[in-house]
Amino acid sequence: MRRRFGENTRSVHLPVAEPPAQTPLGQPVWRNAAWAFENSADYADVLGGRAPGYAYSRIDNPTTASFAAAVASLEGAAAPEDVAGQAFASGMAAVTAVFMTFLRSGAHVVAPAPVYDGTYSLLTNVLGRFGVTADFVDYSDLTRVHAAIRSSTKIIYAETLADPTMTVTDIRGLYQLARAAGAVLVVDSTFATPVVCRPLEHGADLVLHSATKYLGGHDDSTGGVVVGRPALIDKLREVRVDTGGSLSPDDAYLLRRGLETLPLRVRRMCSTAMVFAASVAKHPAVRKVDYPGLPGHPGNELARRLFDAGPEGTRYGGCVTVTPHGGYEAGMTLADGLRLAGVGASVGGTHTKAAHVASSSHRRLGEAALAASGVDAGAVRFAIGLEDAEDLIADVTRALDALRVAGPTRT
Ligand SMILES: Cc1ncc(COP(=O)(O)O)c(C=O)c1O
Repeated sequence: MRRRFGENTRSVHLPVAEPPAQTPLGQPVWRNAAWAFENSADYADVLGGRAPGYAYSRIDNPTTASFAAAVASLEGAAAPEDVAGQAFASGMAAVTAVFMTFLRSGAHVVAPAPVYDGTYSLLTNVLGRFGVTADFVDYSDLTRVHAAIRSSTKIIYAETLADPTMTVTDIRGLYQLARAAGAVLVVDSTFATPVVCRPLEHGADLVLHSATKYLGGHDDSTGGVVVGRPALIDKLREVRVDTGGSLSPDDAYLLRRGLETLPLRVRRMCSTAMVFAASVAKHPAVRKVDYPGLPGHPGNELARRLFDAGPEGTRYGGCVTVTPHGGYEAGMTLADGLRLAGVGASVGGTHTKAAHVASSSHRRLGEAALAASGVDAGAVRFAIGLEDAEDLIADVTRALDALRVAGPTRT
């Protein structure tokens, strides 16, 4: 008689369902960290890259790979077969992997001023300790970018739509400069998404996202992704595997599901942001509104050349920066006076959020650096959500009216 396994062994070795013959709608979650093999040779072949497959989820996982491939297909719509992707545990893990792949001690980076606070701190505080230097330059004038390039410049880093000024970056112009310098052009397209602009079509080598924002779109998952030519992406994969910043399967599932409604959400946010910006700009308590859809914004014409348009017009993104008269305190009071929009981090979720820039998203840049980049201490960035435009306008108008009545000293 065959010997029966003990209850512990039977519990551990439960049957596992065979993968179904039918293709699932949507991407299933493969949550497991490790896979079992028929034999050691098969295991060695997968680990060694001689056979396709999965061995360990930090290295590769079908759910995370599916998310990365999905973003590659959206960003590389013009030539999907030439674009691959790697998924990361956060946007900052993606940025870190890009820098660690293409930089070494003594290398130099040209980046925009202002750049996302985390990227600024990574370059100056962390990578600065490893001999990397960076110059932060006003990208509205490409002669300054040109002047900042050195023989050691390995990366020209850009943001398609720069937060909080909503500066529109001349990606085609940067491409010419990067090519002449032999540098990699990396574009953080978090605030644009492939629904607004696909930087690979304008010459970017790599496009990255904090997927935590618009791609996921529901403020319930954290992740990052980088897409570009397979040869470059393979190099990134090595760094991801060795540094361990890989995306979790659960987050990959949520982020990939978010992509299915990305155009619906982003197009609506762009439309709402446009009417919100136009309305707020007329309020007497407002000193300045930064939104590229407004004719007076310095990036308006460039946006119309680079950004996609639909029947609703050009898509200028879903974030609007509102600067009230009255400086730092007025900005704090405006954000705190909102009832519908919440105060908090992140953009691209379904709920509208407001953030006082100098005390939150860009706090580590400091007020002097922000002022030099044209950002007032009172600036408040609105990340428009999916609420009705008229409700958001009523909310901000009431908060601005109150500010005008309370009136801190005008500047
Ligand atoms: C433009 C931009 N890039 C990168 C990041 C970093 O992304 P994560 O917070 O997912 O690490 C952020 C986060 O706010 C961002 O706004």
